[in-house]
Amino acid sequence: MEFKIIKLNTRPASDPRSGELLFVEGERDIPFIIKRVYCIYSADKCTQRGYHAHKKNWQLLYCPFGDIEIILKDGKNREFIELDEPSKGLIVSPGLWHEMVWKEDNSVLCVMASEYYDENDYIRSYDEYLRYIQCYNSKGNIV
Ligand code: TYD
Repeated sequence: MEFKIIKLNTRPASDPRSGELLFVEGERDIPFIIKRVYCIYSADKCTQRGYHAHKKNWQLLYCPFGDIEIILKDGKNREFIELDEPSKGLIVSPGLWHEMVWKEDNSVLCVMASEYYDENDYIRSYDEYLRYIQCYNSKGNIV
């Protein structure tokens, strides 16, 4: 399964101001140029989202506030990753099915993506996903 948990850069306030700083640089901290950033907020505990895979899109997921569980599936294995620290980043390759579960009210999911939004890049049916991974690798090439 092609995913990676990374520690994002944080800087504590170096003076009497409160607040931590978190930053990400495309191609340096993550293996792609960032073309799109989005976030999901105002979601209640137990909210479930995702339930799709991408054909080309790489993503970095992180949760700067709250606690969100990410479930990754590749048709054979399952991984559960809890984003419970602002600095915990999860890089998800294309070709991985992902689901998200909100563990706390108002947790914020931030995503940096390698591609512009394109509905054709989504596989939203798990049956279709299982057929897709029989035929294509994570680079979208026929296997
Ligand atoms: P969706 O992918 O269904 O969200 P999730 O899988 O996390 O529940 O997206 C919800 C709607 O927002 C859908 O109509 C597509 C639109 N959308 C964009 O227009 N641009 C974007 O970058 C994203 C992520 C979604």
